[in-house]
Amino acid sequence: MFFRGDFLIIFCACVFLKNISSLETTTPEINLLPVNYLLKFINKLENCVKRDPNLIRFYVANNLRNSSSYTEIILNDILSLQNSGLVRNLPLKVLIHGIDQSLTAQFPQDVKNAYLRSEQILTKNILIVDYGAMANIKTESQLNGFDYPICYVQAVLNTATAGTRIAQLIQFIMDNGYAQLNDTHIIGHSLGGHVGGFAANHLQTLNGGKKPARLTALDPAAPGFRPKVLPVRPMTPDDAIFVDVIHTNQICFGVLGPVGQVDIFVNFALFLQPPCVGNITLKGFLVETLPDVLSLGSWCSHGASITYFSQSISDSLSVATGVLGATGHTAILGENCSPSTYPGQYLYLEGNFNPGTYPSLRLWKPIYPDFINNALSWRS
Ligand SMILES: *[C@@H]1O[C@H](CO)[C@@H](O)[C@H](O)[C@H]1NC(C)=O
Ligand SMILES: *[C@@H]1O[C@H](CO)[C@@H](O)[C@H](O)[C@H]1NC(C)=O
Ligand SMILES: *[C@@H]1O[C@H](CO)[C@@H](O)[C@H](O)[C@H]1NC(C)=O
Repeated sequence: MFFRGDFLIIFCACVFLKNISSLETTTPEINLLPVNYLLKFINKLENCVKRDPNLIRFYVANNLRNSSSYTEIILNDILSLQNSGLVRNLPLKVLIHGIDQSLTAQFPQDVKNAYLRSEQILTKNILIVDYGAMANIKTESQLNGFDYPICYVQAVLNTATAGTRIAQLIQFIMDNGYAQLNDTHIIGHSLGGHVGGFAANHLQTLNGGKKPARLTALDPAAPGFRPKVLPVRPMTPDDAIFVDVIHTNQICFGVLGPVGQVDIFVNFALFLQPPCVGNITLKGFLVETLPDVLSLGSWCSHGASITYFSQSISDSLSVATGVLGATGHTAILGENCSPSTYPGQYLYLEGNFNPGTYPSLRLWKPIYPDFINNALSWRS
């Protein structure tokens, strides 16, 4: 992993190389392999993850009769807010997806659908954030395996920009009387947990230190954040009045250990959730590469936090048992977790759940042949 200083050096070198690239035809001596590789690298980075917060979209999903009908709110466009379908004096739910997802992904769709299904009349405003353009790792078809981690790093470095814009949009809604800070609940999955933390923290800055009511992080992302090897701000237990976390995949994509006030570990959240065990099959071991098989099972487990949360919306019966710091106490998993829950760590055991439609990420598969090919070409 890179450190801040390394990034600056790489970044400066890249800018320098990009500027001199126009001279390439007249100065063939710089047309060496590392130069070409770096130029290719920068161009791909620009293609895979954008950095412009104007590309973030905000959708209201308040239509009880048609859950796939949305209206869009544009920052500082009063008309778009008035026509958005937001209802005054209702609590606000803000859904923030994770890496390589967007409006149509399992998160936010499952959570939004569960909210809409659970009611006869609208009792909450649902705002979906789509920052897919700033968190994409595989849109560009020419990407090869080496680019995935690079694009991820850029998406991580975008957390502050995305979080700030989300806070500004929520502030815009509040300033016009469509939401209150003490009734705002931000829910983020994976990278979205940290983006949500940043947004919640920025709302504090905009409101003289007052915090939003709640932040729920679903298996907040580990890489880059814990250990903190990138210059980013991970979510903290102080980002909102109440911060609860559901962990499902601590050892791979989700953070290891507690990061909220109430942390619930489902099935110990070590590596594989029960329905994801099937992803690791004998055929998998024989036909796929081992890292690919592991990332499939782990990715499925990372997505399981979405399903546990979605299911919790129409159910207050999933009770977790207090362990570290909370022995003798209980916590309700997910939506109905009370802000007065005793702080600490909790364990929830669950055998059956519907794994949902979290898309598989063949993260390591393309990397592996690249390594082999490169190794072979280096030898020859
Ligand atoms: C629901 O809304 C979507 C988007 O506006 C539309 O395409 C679809 O036809 C609507 N479905 C129904 C059943 O009205
Ligand atoms: C939020 O604050 C307002 C104004 O102080 C108050 O009227 C309202 O009851 C509060 N709402 C909640 C959910 O605490
Ligand atoms: C992983 O397992 C789940 C549950 O059996 C299944 O729905 C999903 O399609 C599997 N994913 C892959 C990539 O095999």
